[in-house]
Amino acid sequence: MNEQITAAQINDKGHLMIGGCDAVELAHQYGTPLVVYDVTQIRNQIRAFKRVFEENKVDYEVSYASKAFAAIAIYQLVQAEGGHADVVSAGEMYTALQAGFPMENISFHGNNKSREELLMAVKNHVGMIMVDNFYEITLLSEVLEELDETANVMMRITPGISAHTNKYIQTGQVDSKFGFDLQSGQADEALAKILANPRMHMKGLHAHIGSQIFELAGFEGVAKKLVEVAAHWQAKFAYQAEIINVGGGFGIRYVKDDHPLAPEQFVDAIIKAIKKEIAKTSLKMPAIWIEPGRSIVGPAGYNLYTVGSRKDVPGLKPYVTVDGGMGDNIRPALYQAQYETVLANDPQAPAVEHVRIAGKYCESGDILSEDQALPATKPGDVLAMLDTGAYGYSMASNYNRNPRPAVVFTENGQSQLVVKRESLADLTRLDQPYRQ
Ligand code: LLP
Repeated sequence: MNEQITAAQINDKGHLMIGGCDAVELAHQYGTPLVVYDVTQIRNQIRAFKRVFEENKVDYEVSYASKAFAAIAIYQLVQAEGGHADVVSAGEMYTALQAGFPMENISFHGNNKSREELLMAVKNHVGMIMVDNFYEITLLSEVLEELDETANVMMRITPGISAHTNKYIQTGQVDSKFGFDLQSGQADEALAKILANPRMHMKGLHAHIGSQIFELAGFEGVAKKLVEVAAHWQAKFAYQAEIINVGGGFGIRYVKDDHPLAPEQFVDAIIKAIKKEIAKTSLKMPAIWIEPGRSIVGPAGYNLYTVGSRKDVPGLKPYVTVDGGMGDNIRPALYQAQYETVLANDPQAPAVEHVRIAGKYCESGDILSEDQALPATKPGDVLAMLDTGAYGYSMASNYNRNPRPAVVFTENGQSQLVVKRESLADLTRLDQPYRQ
């Protein structure tokens, strides 16, 4: 039996259950490909993060990195759990606004925020603007002047820490497009500019070392580095940081060879490292903020697909093709990401073969799984790919003009459509006829 599925997730028909709902029935009711979230799992992870801060008796915020999955329903769920949220675009900000999410609990990130985006953020009184570069300091000053407003800001620095993860999702190394460089003195220069502007209320500093990180050392390193910078700023500028934001990036288990700590254990180690470093200085203990995305929604998500065609070539691993693929989950093609997949109507069935799970897109690289042990499958069977909740739907595309899937929330045996399936009409909604 797949180790990621617990006995409690199998119902009396032997089917996989998600949030107490039968996965096969969900597939039939809503169609496939379908993205399904187990809401309880999302709530529990946010609560586990909060608990670890409370146990350590520090001020904190858990800010959900909404790029992992952004839709009105998830902002509402995060709000109900008392979380903050990070946005990185006008689109995410707009979605949070539509959700009724309190704007004072939003942090706005990005390495090239436009003037329009900054105007939108300031007009809506977004709680924190994460200043990334000199151009942004100038733009934001102009926007604040124009609107006669003030804003809370934090400064993103590049901590000079290379995390062991796929290079496309590393962000903390010196040679990175994000944040102010420390070694060259850019961060100090930026701080002087921010402190000199009475419209900017400088709240603290931020770093994010990357995503899907398993090693504690990287997080402890960033904690240490941020306290060092805070102490340096206190000595040089008599500036006391109120908040240290260590970003997100806590790795999750996708396949059986992944053995990450529980996400809250990473956070426990970070809090302890910050406390230890602060004790060596005369700084007051700052609030600690985290920005987890993947660890909140990743393990709670499932992609359901229906099996269609199959190709067997003697001596080669068979291709079992499903009705989705790189349009609803680009991660295998883009990052060689791996997932486990089970047969939804019998996740406990012993495997009889190793197959490739192929998508339906016109591209050889559209393989969702290069090697999956599965029982015998036939057209019409429902496959459930596990742990797909982060950066799956949020990176979905309409490649080949395939509509994007629907998204369903499940909890305590109830299911609810939270993002409709795109229709064919949606696909041409923006098209304009060519007048020749
Ligand atoms: N904070 C900042 C500033 C970030 O840039 C990110 C992710 C996060 C927090 C959340 O990281 P998480 O806890 O989700 O690892 N598309 C890639 C991941 C890109 C992550 C970008 N930044 C993937 O599918 O693996």
